[in-house]
Amino acid sequence: MILRVLFLGLYCVFLNSSVVKSQCPCETKQLCEPVKNTTRKEVFMFSLHDIKQTWSRFDWTKVTTVIMVGYVSPQLMCFAHKHDARVVTIGSLPVNNLTNVDDRKRWISSQLKLVRDNFLDGINIDFESAIPHNKPDLKQAFTDLVNETNQAFKNVLPNYQVTVDVAWSPLDHDRCIDNRCYDYPVLSTVSDFLFVMSYDEQSQILGDCVAAANSGFYKTLTGLQGYLKYARIPPNKLVLGVPWYGYKYQCLNFDTKTKKCEIAKVPFRGVNCSDAAGKQFDFRVIIPMMEASTSKRIWDKNTLTPYFYQKNTTSGEYYEVWYDDPESLSLKYQLADKIGLRGVGVWNVDCLDYGDTPSAIKWRTKMWNMVPKYPR
Ligand SMILES: *[C@@H]1O[C@H](CO)[C@@H](O)[C@H](O)[C@H]1NC(C)=O
Ligand SMILES: *[C@@H]1O[C@H](CO)[C@@H](O)[C@H](O)[C@H]1NC(C)=O
Ligand SMILES: *[C@@H]1O[C@H](CO)[C@@H](O)[C@H](O)[C@H]1NC(C)=O
Ligand SMILES: *[C@@H]1O[C@H](CO)[C@@H](O)[C@H](O)[C@H]1NC(C)=O
Ligand SMILES: *[C@@H]1O[C@H](CO)[C@@H](O)[C@H](O)[C@H]1NC(C)=O
Repeated sequence: MILRVLFLGLYCVFLNSSVVKSQCPCETKQLCEPVKNTTRKEVFMFSLHDIKQTWSRFDWTKVTTVIMVGYVSPQLMCFAHKHDARVVTIGSLPVNNLTNVDDRKRWISSQLKLVRDNFLDGINIDFESAIPHNKPDLKQAFTDLVNETNQAFKNVLPNYQVTVDVAWSPLDHDRCIDNRCYDYPVLSTVSDFLFVMSYDEQSQILGDCVAAANSGFYKTLTGLQGYLKYARIPPNKLVLGVPWYGYKYQCLNFDTKTKKCEIAKVPFRGVNCSDAAGKQFDFRVIIPMMEASTSKRIWDKNTLTPYFYQKNTTSGEYYEVWYDDPESLSLKYQLADKIGLRGVGVWNVDCLDYGDTPSAIKWRTKMWNMVPKYPR
C-alpha cells in the first residue's frame, strides 16, 4: 500500500514535469526568470499600450514594476527583466462571483497560468466595485480572494508579487470612499502591498458642486494618514499612486473673481455631485491646452496643484481644467519618502508624449526627472 502511494506520488511529479512548458521568448533563459527581491522600494507604473517606442523610453533606471493593462507583451517582459524590473498582469473577479469558492479557484488558476506561461512576476488586483457596509460576506469574500491568490502564487514562487489597488482613503467623514468598505488592514497583510489611488479624489463631492483638484496634496495626505493611523497599516505596505492625467470640467456658472466653476450634478455611488461631470485628459493633451488657455497655469495654494480656465468667446462658456504637473507631483513623491512609504506609482505612464518633438522630449524629461530613484 505504502509503495503504491509512493509510486502514485512519483507518477504525479513525473506528469507535472512532463507538461509542456512554454518557450522562453528572450535572448537568454535567465531573462525569463521573475525578479527575486521582494523588499525593495517601488516605482509602480501602469501601462495601457504595448507600443515599443513608448515603453522603451520609460526611465528604466527608476521603474521597478510595470503593470500591463489590457495586454501581455513577451517583448516587454524580456526588456523589463533585462532592467531588473517586474512585469505583472492586472485583473479581478466580478463582484457577483466573489462569494463563489469555485469561481475564485478557477479565476486564480487562470491568472496563475497566464503569469507562468508568460514568465511574468505577479498580479495587481484591481477590484474597485462597491461593497456596502451591510455586506460583510462580500467584504470577507474579497479578502479571501486576495489571500487565496497570494497563497496560490507564493506556493509556486515565493517572490511572485501580489498587490491590491485601493481608494485614496479608507474613510471620509465616517463613510467608505466610493462605497468600497473593504477590510484594508487585512488586505495589507495578505498581499505584498496596497497601491493607494490618490486620484479621482472628487469622485464623491460632498460640499459645493464645483470643479476641484484630482489629486490635492492635503486630501492625499489625509487619505494616507487614514491608512496609517486608522487602518494601522505600516508605511512599507503602501505605495502612493499619482495621476499623470487631469479633468476638464464645463462650468454651468463661473465666478471670475474666485474662479469657482460650478459643474453639473452627476451622481456616483450615492453622492449627487462627482468628477463624472468632467472628462479625463492625458498630461500630453493638457499641456498644449494650458498653453493656449485664457488664464494659463494657476497654482492653487489650497491643494498644491495647478489648474487653468478657458473662456469660449463665442458662447461665453467657461471650462476649468485641474491636473498635475512636475511641481505638484514632486511634492507628493517627497511626501511618500518623508513618511517612509514603499514607494510611488503612476496611473498611467502612457499619458506622456514619447515622440521626438522638442516639446515631447522636454515634458517627458521633466516628468520622469521628478520620479524618485530607489536603490535595487
Ligand atoms: C460568474 O458567474 C456567472 C454566473 O454564475 C458565470 O456564468 C461566470 O462564468 C462567472 N465568471 C467567473 C469569472 O467565474
Ligand atoms: C489566508 O489563507 C491561509 C491558508 O488558507 C489561512 O491559513 C489564513 O488564515 C488566511 N488568512 C486570512 C487573513 O484569511
Ligand atoms: C440628491 O438628489 C436627490 C434627487 O434629486 C435628492 O432627493 C437628494 O436629497 C439629494 N441628496 C443630497 C445629499 O443632496
Ligand atoms: C464655442 O462655442 C461655440 C458656440 O456654442 C461652439 O460652436 C464652439 O465649438 C465652441 N468652441 C470650443 C473650443 O469649445
Ligand atoms: C533588495 O533590495 C534592497 C534595495 O536595493 C536591498 O537593500 C536588499 O538587500 C535587497 N534584498 C535582497 C534579499 O537582495
